[in-house]
Amino acid sequence: MADINRNYLKLPGSYLFSNIGKKVNAFAQANPEAKIIRLGIGDVTRPLTPKVIEALHKATDEMAKQETFRGYAPDLGYEFLRKAVATNDFQARGCDIAEDEIFISDGAKCDCGNIQEIFATDNIIAVCDPVYPVYVDSNVMAGRTGEYDSVTERFDKVVYMPCTKENDFVPQIPKEKVDLIYLCFPNNPTGAVITKDRLQEWVDYANKNGSIILYDAAYEAFISEENVPHSIYECEGARNCAIEFRSFSKTAGFTGLRLGYTVIPKDLEAGGEKLHPLWARRHGTKYNGAPYIVQRAGEAIYTPEGRAEVKEQIAYYMENAKIILSGLSDAGYEVYGGVNAPYIWLKAPNDMTSWEFFDLLLTKANVVGTPGSGFGPSGEHYFRLTAFGDREATKEAIERIRQL
Ligand code: MLT
Repeated sequence: MADINRNYLKLPGSYLFSNIGKKVNAFAQANPEAKIIRLGIGDVTRPLTPKVIEALHKATDEMAKQETFRGYAPDLGYEFLRKAVATNDFQARGCDIAEDEIFISDGAKCDCGNIQEIFATDNIIAVCDPVYPVYVDSNVMAGRTGEYDSVTERFDKVVYMPCTKENDFVPQIPKEKVDLIYLCFPNNPTGAVITKDRLQEWVDYANKNGSIILYDAAYEAFISEENVPHSIYECEGARNCAIEFRSFSKTAGFTGLRLGYTVIPKDLEAGGEKLHPLWARRHGTKYNGAPYIVQRAGEAIYTPEGRAEVKEQIAYYMENAKIILSGLSDAGYEVYGGVNAPYIWLKAPNDMTSWEFFDLLLTKANVVGTPGSGFGPSGEHYFRLTAFGDREATKEAIERIRQL
């Protein structure tokens, strides 16, 4: 008799952002006059840049001609994009990463969710708390997390590393032995960053203990301060202990196009085996490559004009971040992030829970954000706003919150 993967039954009812979407849609239906401003999910609002659009048109035309038509893309990505990525994102910053260590995909979310498949199910995972839900949920599905305890709101086999204002939202190295460590910097949801020295301590720990760091650098393009590493491979020894994920979604507004990549150094090993061929095997079996036209669009952001356009787009969002940060802090809110990341992490006023504040903002200001507790128990009493909104809507949202 067929049965299901029972680990799925341990998951929360729905994915955090689907849950929020449902609540907001129900409110919108009941209150059709409400002008809702959505600063919840980190989805971009600016159109694709001219250079990206030009590349999309050109590649689309190529697909219309016999001589230039392309079928399946190479599973690991076209050479032109892997080379552009390795050269610009790594070698230009002094990181020793070669083009054949880049695996092109349709986004960092899928890669972060799928990577756990190449590791043993009894590996112990360590995650930040609060955390991007994909890391935990994908391990729940794989049966790696043990049982959920509704009192502590935690899975019993997962090591949670609290990120609080007391530690500047940067986790302490765990005392217990962990095998797979998920780190995300600049951080989603707190907007915090890690210094190169602190990241080096993690790399040293992982090399000493035979752990693998799964480093999500999807928000790297938003770093504005010095001494903040853009890649974990800026740290000595990271080639021997780290996998890195990057995304074009936030960097270049590709949330609707879908493009990302994962870096796996060829010498990286776990359990005495190299990880690069395992991920290549998984990619080859379960994935047929990101579309040619999208990979050409991705390549366009590495041209001088493309780079300038993307920089301008990021500056637009970071100006929104400034507006949110200063508006809320002037109004007496405790606010974090928003300087090297497009997320602002704020403390809910009057000791409200995250969901109480969510309801208050939705019903009284018609502004949508993300409750911090949705990212983990240490996110309780916090709230996340994104800087990815439209400028006028962002200003209006902050004004409404100030009026509350
Ligand atoms: C977020 O809002 O945390 C992100 O947009 C979700 C994602 O990138 O999948």
